[in-house]
Amino acid sequence: MNDQGHIAVLSNEVFENLISTGCRTFVDATVGAAGHALGMLVRNRNLHLIGIDRDQEALDRAGQTLKEYSGRVTLLRGNFRNLKEILQGIGISSIDGILFDLGISSYQLADSRGFSFNDDEGLDMRMDTREALTAYEIVNSYRQEDIARILYEYGEEHRSRKIAKVIFDSRKKEKIRTARQLASIVASAKKRTGRIHPATKTFQALRIAVNDELGSLAQGMDAAVGLLAAGGRIGIITFHSLEDRMVKERFRNDRTLNVLTRKAIKPGREEVLSNPRSRSAKLRVAEKN
Ligand SMILES: C[S@@+](CC[C@H](N)C(=O)[O-])C[C@H]1O[C@@H](n2cnc3c(N)ncnc32)[C@H](O)[C@@H]1O
Repeated sequence: MNDQGHIAVLSNEVFENLISTGCRTFVDATVGAAGHALGMLVRNRNLHLIGIDRDQEALDRAGQTLKEYSGRVTLLRGNFRNLKEILQGIGISSIDGILFDLGISSYQLADSRGFSFNDDEGLDMRMDTREALTAYEIVNSYRQEDIARILYEYGEEHRSRKIAKVIFDSRKKEKIRTARQLASIVASAKKRTGRIHPATKTFQALRIAVNDELGSLAQGMDAAVGLLAAGGRIGIITFHSLEDRMVKERFRNDRTLNVLTRKAIKPGREEVLSNPRSRSAKLRVAEKN
């Protein structure tokens, strides 16, 4: 895929661990740009793939990418936290496998929704534009201590209080309207270390809060495990430690699951070099007893 596009991470590892020849009904709970989905459909000719995404633009793109396989694909818009109801809607109560590839795609980063530091468009960050809460609202109307809490809890940002204060002081002068403005306000409160932008954790935290990503993940995992047939597999790719910890604990504490990855699978050097976005990816896989 070209460099504007989204490159699916840990693809071979996903294919090897999640789709056996016996796998028939597979859910891609975050179909996105459909890189994983396409690979699975090519590799298993008996597979019916149900692709879910909360972002309509992502679904439209997935529809294009998977056009050739449309007879074996069902694309549905929704939040995977409602997986059970979404599948009930098409008469499915049992699945052979499921993948969650969390976070946002490179297309969304480039989409002028305020996900990216140098974005001059509105500070939005909603994956589903039907939802009400935006990053603009959090940044411009939440109390200083609530902003600090969000940055600390969801971004593991140690400068959370200082950053919340500069946000608060600056919005008193004028509303913070763009991602670029916010990134530069945060940069005034925190030094850059290495190549990582000082606002990285702040942006991660706001995105998680706007989209209730951790709440969705907890409910999505529960629903997925409930739907898996015996021998069916669940695979989850995470991009930061908060999510990875949740997945690890959820798998470990469930007696109906057999954890197949004692240690998370990480991308090799070559993948990280060719796709830097993959550097923090971790895949965990479990099988239903
Ligand atoms: C990293 S991308 C997935 C990329 C995909 N695996 C591929 O190969 O192109 C994550 C996608 O999940 C979607 N997403 C994130 N949270 C979601 C949720 N709670 N419910 C449904 N879709 C979600 C995002 O909109 C985004 O399109």
